[in-house]
Amino acid sequence: GTQRVSFKINGEPTQLDVTPNTVLLDAIRHNLGMPGTKKGCDHGQCGACNVHVNGTVINSCLSLAVMHDGDEITTVEGLGDADNLGALQRAFLEHDGYQCGYCTAGQMMTACYILADKRIGTSDRDVRDAMSGNICRCGAYKNIVAAIQDARG
Ligand code: FES
Repeated sequence: GTQRVSFKINGEPTQLDVTPNTVLLDAIRHNLGMPGTKKGCDHGQCGACNVHVNGTVINSCLSLAVMHDGDEITTVEGLGDADNLGALQRAFLEHDGYQCGYCTAGQMMTACYILADKRIGTSDRDVRDAMSGNICRCGAYKNIVAAIQDARG
Protein backbone atom coordinates (compact mmCIF):
# COMPACT_ATOMS: atom_id res chain seq x y z
CA GLY A 1 0.00 0.00 0.00
CA THR A 2 0.93 3.64 -0.14
CA GLN A 3 0.90 6.42 2.37
CA ARG A 4 0.02 10.05 1.80
CA VAL A 5 2.66 12.64 2.62
CA SER A 6 2.24 16.42 2.33
CA PHE A 7 5.15 18.85 2.25
CA LYS A 8 6.29 22.00 0.55
CA ILE A 9 8.94 21.60 -2.11
CA ASN A 10 10.55 24.78 -3.42
CA GLY A 11 7.60 26.65 -1.95
CA GLU A 12 4.95 24.51 -3.67
CA PRO A 13 2.49 22.62 -1.44
CA THR A 14 2.73 19.02 -2.67
CA GLN A 15 0.98 15.78 -1.86
CA LEU A 16 2.38 12.40 -2.70
CA ASP A 17 1.32 8.80 -2.27
CA VAL A 18 4.42 6.71 -1.65
CA THR A 19 5.23 3.27 -0.37
CA PRO A 20 6.63 3.38 3.18
CA ASN A 21 10.09 2.35 1.97
CA THR A 22 10.42 5.10 -0.68
CA VAL A 23 13.42 7.29 0.08
CA LEU A 24 13.08 11.04 -0.31
CA LEU A 25 15.60 11.04 -3.17
CA ASP A 26 13.47 8.67 -5.27
CA ALA A 27 10.28 10.52 -4.38
CA ILE A 28 11.87 13.76 -5.65
CA ARG A 29 13.37 12.28 -8.81
CA HIS A 30 10.72 9.78 -9.82
CA ASN A 31 7.43 10.59 -8.13
CA LEU A 32 7.84 14.35 -8.56
CA GLY A 33 9.86 14.24 -11.78
CA MET A 34 12.56 16.63 -10.55
CA PRO A 35 15.85 15.19 -11.83
CA GLY A 36 18.22 17.88 -10.52
CA THR A 37 18.92 15.98 -7.30
CA LYS A 38 21.32 13.15 -8.13
CA LYS A 39 21.89 9.62 -6.90
CA GLY A 40 25.58 8.94 -6.46
CA CYS A 41 26.48 6.38 -3.82
CA ASP A 42 22.96 5.86 -2.43
CA HIS A 43 24.62 5.32 0.98
CA GLY A 44 25.08 8.75 2.55
CA GLN A 45 28.70 9.11 1.50
CA CYS A 46 28.87 11.41 -1.53
CA GLY A 47 26.43 14.31 -1.04
CA ALA A 48 25.11 14.23 -4.63
CA CYS A 49 21.58 13.82 -3.26
CA ASN A 50 21.73 16.71 -0.77
CA VAL A 51 18.62 18.82 -0.28
CA HIS A 52 17.49 21.23 2.40
CA VAL A 53 14.84 20.18 4.88
CA ASN A 54 13.57 22.88 7.22
CA GLY A 55 16.77 24.86 6.71
CA THR A 56 19.31 22.11 7.23
CA VAL A 57 21.15 19.90 4.73
CA ILE A 58 20.39 16.20 4.52
CA ASN A 59 21.34 13.23 2.34
CA SER A 60 17.98 12.56 0.70
CA CYS A 61 19.09 8.98 -0.12
CA LEU A 62 19.04 8.13 3.58
CA SER A 63 15.66 9.58 4.53
CA LEU A 64 12.24 8.03 3.99
CA ALA A 65 9.76 10.24 2.17
CA VAL A 66 7.00 9.45 4.69
CA MET A 67 9.09 11.06 7.44
CA HIS A 68 8.74 14.47 5.79
CA ASP A 69 5.08 15.24 6.34
CA GLY A 70 4.77 18.98 6.97
CA ASP A 71 8.39 19.73 6.07
CA GLU A 72 9.77 22.49 3.86
CA ILE A 73 12.11 21.00 1.29
CA THR A 74 14.36 22.85 -1.14
CA THR A 75 16.09 21.18 -4.07
CA VAL A 76 18.54 22.61 -6.58
CA GLU A 77 15.56 23.60 -8.74
CA GLY A 78 14.68 26.01 -5.93
CA LEU A 79 17.95 27.94 -6.30
CA GLY A 80 17.05 29.40 -9.70
CA ASP A 81 16.55 28.21 -13.26
CA ALA A 82 18.30 28.58 -16.61
CA ASP A 83 16.66 31.94 -17.29
CA ASN A 84 17.20 33.25 -13.82
CA LEU A 85 20.31 31.80 -12.18
CA GLY A 86 20.89 32.33 -8.48
CA ALA A 87 24.13 33.95 -7.28
CA LEU A 88 25.65 30.63 -6.30
CA GLN A 89 24.80 29.05 -9.64
CA ARG A 90 26.40 31.99 -11.45
CA ALA A 91 29.53 31.67 -9.30
CA PHE A 92 29.84 27.94 -10.11
CA LEU A 93 29.55 28.80 -13.81
CA GLU A 94 32.07 31.63 -13.66
CA HIS A 95 34.64 29.57 -11.75
CA ASP A 96 34.08 26.27 -13.61
CA GLY A 97 33.05 24.70 -10.31
CA TYR A 98 32.44 21.32 -11.98
CA GLN A 99 33.70 19.05 -14.69
CA CYS A 100 31.11 16.36 -15.44
CA GLY A 101 28.51 18.19 -13.33
CA TYR A 102 27.04 15.14 -11.66
CA CYS A 103 27.88 16.27 -8.12
CA THR A 104 27.09 19.93 -8.72
CA ALA A 105 23.52 20.08 -7.42
CA GLY A 106 24.58 18.50 -4.15
CA GLN A 107 27.66 20.73 -3.95
CA MET A 108 25.47 23.81 -4.33
CA MET A 109 22.92 22.69 -1.75
CA THR A 110 25.66 22.27 0.83
CA ALA A 111 27.36 25.48 -0.31
CA CYS A 112 24.29 27.64 0.10
CA TYR A 113 23.85 26.27 3.60
CA ILE A 114 27.46 27.18 4.38
CA LEU A 115 27.00 30.66 2.92
CA ALA A 116 24.14 31.29 5.31
CA ASP A 117 26.17 30.23 8.35
CA LYS A 118 28.41 33.13 9.30
CA ARG A 119 30.26 30.98 11.86
CA ILE A 120 31.94 29.14 9.00
CA GLY A 121 35.09 30.92 7.82
CA THR A 122 36.01 31.69 4.23
CA SER A 123 39.57 30.36 4.01
CA ASP A 124 40.23 27.49 1.59
CA ARG A 125 40.61 25.21 4.57
CA ASP A 126 37.34 26.33 6.20
CA VAL A 127 35.37 25.88 3.00
CA ARG A 128 36.95 22.50 2.24
CA ASP A 129 36.20 21.27 5.76
CA ALA A 130 32.59 22.47 5.57
CA MET A 131 32.18 20.85 2.13
CA SER A 132 33.89 17.58 3.08
CA GLY A 133 30.64 15.58 2.78
CA ASN A 134 30.43 16.35 -0.94
CA ILE A 135 32.63 14.23 -3.15
CA CYS A 136 33.69 15.35 -6.64
CA ARG A 137 35.07 12.44 -8.61
CA CYS A 138 36.58 14.78 -11.20
CA GLY A 139 38.50 16.57 -8.46
CA ALA A 140 37.23 20.07 -9.27
CA TYR A 141 37.60 21.07 -5.63
CA LYS A 142 39.80 24.09 -6.24
CA ASN A 143 37.20 25.73 -8.48
CA ILE A 144 34.31 24.68 -6.26
CA VAL A 145 35.98 26.42 -3.31
CA ALA A 146 36.64 29.52 -5.43
CA ALA A 147 33.00 29.65 -6.52
CA ILE A 148 31.78 29.43 -2.93
CA GLN A 149 34.22 32.10 -1.75
CA ASP A 150 33.11 34.37 -4.58
CA ALA A 151 29.41 33.83 -3.89
CA ARG A 152 30.03 34.77 -0.27
CA GLY A 153 31.60 38.01 -1.43
FE1 FES B 1 23.07 10.20 -1.11
FE2 FES B 1 25.51 9.70 -2.11
S1 FES B 1 23.56 9.50 -3.09
S2 FES B 1 25.00 10.63 -0.21
